[in-house]
Amino acid sequence: MSNPDPTELSPVSPRISPTASPRLAALAKAVLEGGTKARSSLRRRLVGELLAKAPRDYQTEIDVAVERIIVDALSTSFPSYAIKGEEAVGNRNAKDGAPIIYIDPIDGTTNFAWGIPHFGMTISIVEDAEIVAGVVYDAMLDELFSAELGGGSYLNGERIRCVSSKGIEDVLVGAGLPIPGQLKAVPEEIYFSALKRLMATTAGVRRLGSAALSIAYVACGRLDGFFEDGLSLHDYAASALLVREAGGEVTAFNGGPVTANGDVLAGNRVLHPWLVEGFQA
Ligand code: IPD
Ligand code: CA
Ligand code: CA
Repeated sequence: MSNPDPTELSPVSPRISPTASPRLAALAKAVLEGGTKARSSLRRRLVGELLAKAPRDYQTEIDVAVERIIVDALSTSFPSYAIKGEEAVGNRNAKDGAPIIYIDPIDGTTNFAWGIPHFGMTISIVEDAEIVAGVVYDAMLDELFSAELGGGSYLNGERIRCVSSKGIEDVLVGAGLPIPGQLKAVPEEIYFSALKRLMATTAGVRRLGSAALSIAYVACGRLDGFFEDGLSLHDYAASALLVREAGGEVTAFNGGPVTANGDVLAGNRVLHPWLVEGFQA
């Protein structure tokens, strides 16, 4: 008998907050549907099978197919919402002030394209310039992270919280390793010195390959902190909400609000100020 599809065994509601709104449930259902497609399509792809949207920025046919599944699942349920998907499969505008659905169908496409089973799938809703709901799904581990503003953060239906790390020697921090041209907020020397400081002082640095999942890992304590420059809202919105609702902080590298540069620094409350210090010239 073939392995059962985990999403068939797991209806949505026990996997999100008991107080979740119908719209969070709709995001969860859509991302689980997309996950079935992604999970069954993972394999090493050769470079000739990939579309390079820009140097080192790849797209597979599955990024597009998954975004299509998510758009089809959500567009009729949210007819007045704008849609901004990374692959622009069903993007649409809406009235000024309408909520916006952000979709990153596969966050970690490089991992996915090389057959590495670690990538996230993420959907969020931004309303009145605030992130109000979001899901991040690890299709390979069948882990569904979800959060709603004021409603807490959940992993497969269990409440999650950031861990308050103790000494700097005992923290594990995730970070992006930028490709050329990615850094927007700080010069290379500053970014690399922040990384070196982590290597010299912490338990270790992890570059896992999906910013969305790495930030979600801060929300559940698998990482104590994470930073990367040059991210987009579709990458980080859902997981930033997860961290905040799990008691952590998400800011720009200077400790202020995240800007269009997409420099995102997430951490538990104890570690976050120390990580910000690493970016002071
Ligand atoms: C990328 C992943 C990766 C990060 C890149 C992102 P994509 O998203 O999050 O971990 O380092 O900056 O662009 O392109 O795979 O959706
Ligand atoms: Ca992404
Ligand atoms: Ca993507």
